[in-house]
Amino acid sequence: MVRRLQGGALGVALWLAVPSALPFQRPAQQADDAASQSHRSIMVERQIHARGVTDPAVLDAMAAVPRHRFVPDTLRAQAYADRALPIGLDQTISQPFIVAHMTEALGVSDAHDVLEIGTGSGYQAAVLSQLARNVYTIEIVPALARRAAATLKALGYSNVYVREGDGYAGWPEHAPFERIMVTAAPARVPPPLIDQLAAGGRMVIPVGEREQWMTIIEKTPEGVAERRTIPVMFVPFTRR
Ligand SMILES: C[S@@+](CC[C@H](N)C(=O)[O-])C[C@H]1O[C@@H](n2cnc3c(N)ncnc32)[C@H](O)[C@@H]1O
Repeated sequence: MVRRLQGGALGVALWLAVPSALPFQRPAQQADDAASQSHRSIMVERQIHARGVTDPAVLDAMAAVPRHRFVPDTLRAQAYADRALPIGLDQTISQPFIVAHMTEALGVSDAHDVLEIGTGSGYQAAVLSQLARNVYTIEIVPALARRAAATLKALGYSNVYVREGDGYAGWPEHAPFERIMVTAAPARVPPPLIDQLAAGGRMVIPVGEREQWMTIIEKTPEGVAERRTIPVMFVPFTRR
């Protein structure tokens, strides 16, 4: 089941307090929500479940998060299409199937603190927040970090903490993390992220330059194990 939103403070680069209740909705907004819920059900069935994502908690989370609120207004009509979309500043919100595939591969529970590198629109963080205890997410483009924090705050995702910065160094103040997700592709896995992965923890990360593979990394008592899932195409992991 989708976890209820918690009340409390939304940590943003700005560490703002957030009211837990959603604002009163006018009839037009309710109608928009009913339509978007129907688009989401179809998206989950045809784009995600049909391609092999079966974890009910992941499917519930994908059905619950209003993706149309994370895309630019001019692209709202395409929010539930089977593709990545531009979010400005040369960046993208990932295709719904890829978000679901990565979320399922991460294997998140409400006992987990999750670090995400590459906040972008904030959509993936919102999906993770339905499953995790807390989500810490870092975005290198300041305007995107601010906008994602504002969107997450407006929608009441109170267990998501957004920070602006270069995610290469992780977020040591909150480490170790049971789960880490990276949504931009580095040529090699940043060593600080492996260091900040808890014992028994798991990371999902697209790795490579011209050829990229979704990669699952696990920290086991025997060492760090790595396996690939599917070929992917992500924006590059950049550095400051
Ligand atoms: C494919 S987009 C992420 C999509 C995002 N997860 C969402 O749900 O909208 C990749 C993001 O990673 C960011 N990024 C790239 N390198 C980064 C780094 N070193 N640290 C933090 N963010 C980074 C980009 O600016 C971009 O916003």
